[in-house]
Amino acid sequence: MPTSSPLPPADRATGPDVLVIGAGVIGLAIAWRLAQRGLAVTVVDPAPGRAASWAAAGMLAPVTEVHYQEEALLGLNLESARRWADFAAELEGASGTPVGYRACGTLAVAADAGDHAWLGELHRFQLELGLRAERLTSRECRQVEPALAPRIRGGVRVEGDHQVDPRRLSAALLEASRRLRVRFVAGRVESLVMEAGSCVGAVIATAGSAPAGDSGTLRAGLVVLAAGAWSSELAAGLPAGHVPPIRPVKGQILRLRQREGAPVLNGNVRGLVEGSSVYLVPRVDGEVVVGATMEEQGFDTTVTAGAVLNLLRDAYGLVPELAEFEFVEVTASLRPCTPDNAPVIGASGVDGLVVAGGHHRNGVLLTPVTADLVAELVTGGSMPALGEPFSPARFGALAR
Ligand code: GLY
Repeated sequence: MPTSSPLPPADRATGPDVLVIGAGVIGLAIAWRLAQRGLAVTVVDPAPGRAASWAAAGMLAPVTEVHYQEEALLGLNLESARRWADFAAELEGASGTPVGYRACGTLAVAADAGDHAWLGELHRFQLELGLRAERLTSRECRQVEPALAPRIRGGVRVEGDHQVDPRRLSAALLEASRRLRVRFVAGRVESLVMEAGSCVGAVIATAGSAPAGDSGTLRAGLVVLAAGAWSSELAAGLPAGHVPPIRPVKGQILRLRQREGAPVLNGNVRGLVEGSSVYLVPRVDGEVVVGATMEEQGFDTTVTAGAVLNLLRDAYGLVPELAEFEFVEVTASLRPCTPDNAPVIGASGVDGLVVAGGHHRNGVLLTPVTADLVAELVTGGSMPALGEPFSPARFGALAR
């Protein structure tokens, strides 16, 4: 790991101090944090906030979504969850834009006997890990969420798993960054620019707003690759062993809207319905996000009838009242996933290039901690211990 900042000597920096590739919530939060620390930052993205961040439901649920053999990731998830309330308040203050952070808790419920047994195992695992989660009977579940179907066998209540609205979050990060003079280039990056073994910028395919005279090339002192599912493709020209192994995992997700009355749910609900997993994330304005599929389909973002059918069937199985809601939207997008489901954050092993990607199902949750880690690496000179297990080096890149 670097013992000094990866920012190169000033004589190499013919563009901004930092070029961030990708304006999802991860790239935007990094740009904001670096600008707060006084760096000149440019962000390039064809449509800020419109890829996976646009689709995301915004569950901040490290405990409800804990997985076997992902204990290191759990630690990072819990730390980011702990930072969320302050991050949201600071961002709202800096942008004047609400982000929809709600400390609403999450209830995981089971529909049939098999689902109930699985939830019991999950609860045992949560307790083994020292996490706070409370087993509830069917009746107790319906006291917490009266709209649940009577068939619900029981559940697990996690008081500390919350939510934020990712679309509002992107808007707030854009505004806060603009207020700190972060420059946005509406272009699609084609490749990284390498010179003498170092990364010195990026080639912009859509050069409409790239600086005149650069012929579509943006040079920078440091490049941060935060391009989500496209990160590996953009890094394809790097030396062997330095390309972060990030692949797309398709998610289809629905947005429904309650037309009248008090909100149907008090907090997030995660359900297992005859072995099939679904979650419901209710907003205060009546929107309910229903997600999401997990599909290994490469870069395909086709919306399919079967996915909509299954999500609606499972959501209706949990909360029958949803049948009366307006169907607003179905979105298909691509999560960036690594072989161990944990992100890659840190020095890439190539001079001038830092990676922040592969956040898989946890991009929104991990936004505060990822931005803090990258800011500390870039301006403080080394990766904090918390971030070390997530170095790109674990996949073979020799991070310095
Ligand atoms: N975090 C939920 C999802 O990726 O669907």
